[in-house]
Amino acid sequence: MNNPKNKRKTPNLDSSIRLGVNVDHVGTLRNARGGSHPDPFLAAHVAAEAGADIITVHLREDRRHILDDDVSRLIHESNLSINMEMAATEEMASIAITNPPSAICLVPEQRQELTTEGGLDVVGQLPYLTKFIGSLSEAGIKVTTFVDPDEQQVEASLNAGANAVELHVGTYCESYDRGHASQNEFKRVVSASRYATNNGLECHAGHGLNYGSAAIIAKIGQITELNIGHFLIGEAVFTGLGDVVTKMRRVIDLARTS
Ligand code: PXP
Repeated sequence: MNNPKNKRKTPNLDSSIRLGVNVDHVGTLRNARGGSHPDPFLAAHVAAEAGADIITVHLREDRRHILDDDVSRLIHESNLSINMEMAATEEMASIAITNPPSAICLVPEQRQELTTEGGLDVVGQLPYLTKFIGSLSEAGIKVTTFVDPDEQQVEASLNAGANAVELHVGTYCESYDRGHASQNEFKRVVSASRYATNNGLECHAGHGLNYGSAAIIAKIGQITELNIGHFLIGEAVFTGLGDVVTKMRRVIDLARTS
């Protein structure tokens, strides 16, 4: 691997792991009827009360779930730590700079996709993303890039000025859900996470996690934050959001310490 331009100090790794709860699909349900119920703002508070450290929301270009007003209320009317996922567009940069969240995660976005289908191609857009991340950093915003577990993408994120990477663990989680957890994919996640932290980047993970796969990914000591949405909101239908978040909290804390 080439020498990353911005080699930094290795971040402190401790045994704790942060849980980010993505409340986008509370917005999906609300928008199905066009009213105000269920309210992602309220869901965010229930999740935080039950053990979430961070609330994650993805303000998509098509506003299919989270709306501008949700973001604004979460940032200005709560003291929760808000991680805003967004595409690297001028429109989103202007929203983020006007209403700075605690952190931003840059994701690729295609209009027709059901969900974020892959990691951001930081290697292929390095000059553009370096400038884009630079303008957010100047505004004092911490920036994460959502990338495939690939050392070249991690290295490019470092060179683009990101503070952290979130590894897309969807391929691993899909294999886990099919009953044949891919050891190959798991090794890619481990080695990308080591590469990130050895070069001074914080390392997070997300996409497709459930109780079982989260318990495995949480064992990787380099990973300090998990962002989980669809599974938690889906399970909440059966047992309630508070119960589900508390259970996930327990699962990842246990994985971390055992
Ligand atoms: N992290 C990122 C960057 C995402 O785009 C998503 C999906 O919005 C998630 C985490 C959560 O994935 P899931 O809903 O599959 O748990």
